[in-house]
Amino acid sequence: MKNYASLTRILLLAIVSLAIANPAAAETIAIIGTGDVATALGPAFAAQGHAIIYGSRDPSRASVEELVAATGHGATATTQAEAVAGADIVVLAVPGLLIEEIVRGLGDLSGKIIIDPTNPLQRSSGTLTHAVETSNAEIIQSAAPNAYVVKAFNTLNWRTMVDPASAGGPVSIPLAGNSSEAKQVVAELVEGMGLEAIDVGSVENAHWVEGMLILWINNRYGSDARQSFDFHLRKN
Ligand SMILES: NC(=O)c1ccc[n+]([C@@H]2O[C@H](COP(=O)([O-])OP(=O)(O)OC[C@H]3O[C@@H](n4cnc5c(N)ncnc54)[C@H](OP(=O)(O)O)[C@@H]3O)[C@@H](O)[C@H]2O)c1
Repeated sequence: MKNYASLTRILLLAIVSLAIANPAAAETIAIIGTGDVATALGPAFAAQGHAIIYGSRDPSRASVEELVAATGHGATATTQAEAVAGADIVVLAVPGLLIEEIVRGLGDLSGKIIIDPTNPLQRSSGTLTHAVETSNAEIIQSAAPNAYVVKAFNTLNWRTMVDPASAGGPVSIPLAGNSSEAKQVVAELVEGMGLEAIDVGSVENAHWVEGMLILWINNRYGSDARQSFDFHLRKN
């Protein structure tokens, strides 16, 4: 009887450690771009057990090799289009004003979850304004109609992504997109970083989520800069 109990305990421990080593939803995630946001999100997603492929215009550049090494967990780097081809999830950590041209160069995005952290910003006499009529997320969804676009991570600085505790309280990540299932997958990535996910509806709402960043950045850095803050949307 005693032997049976310890065998059960060993089996349970083995199942738990297998689940930790191989999370149920381990995905291949292409991170397009190798700048600040890529450097914040790539290692964070790798630490959650996902396979990371960086997509760079110059994957052999020393800074890209350093990012791959810092990410660990078997991360690799290749061209942008090749990274996308092998991925379930694609993060577009690229300049916001170039989004349509970059997305059209990535090949077939059908069936993939596209995480859009970009902000299309233009400067107008000392303040930043929204440079597109709709939103970058809607532009991506139109360019890739069979992909599942989720606006996420655009409303906070990369430093808070890396160290959410530095905000001194919970930080919300609004998620806008048409697929509830895709938003749930992204919510798990968000929560795995110590941030709070909140579903704010369809992709059309990305216009207002991008507006949150305009409010944030003008308060932080604009000509009438007052203060720094992070968004926390209390659920009720
Ligand atoms: N920085 C933040 O704290 C922050 C926070 C939230 C959201 N965002 C938004 O997230 C996006 C990325 O921000 P970031 O700060 O990471 O930008 P970044 O440091 O300038 O990095 C953008 C990356 O995109 C790639 N890239 C640059 N020009 C390109 C081009 N013409 N075509 C294709 N790829 C190009 C580059 O990677 P390769 O050289 O390897 O190709 C570059 O490292 C922006 O839209 C920004 O508004 C930024």
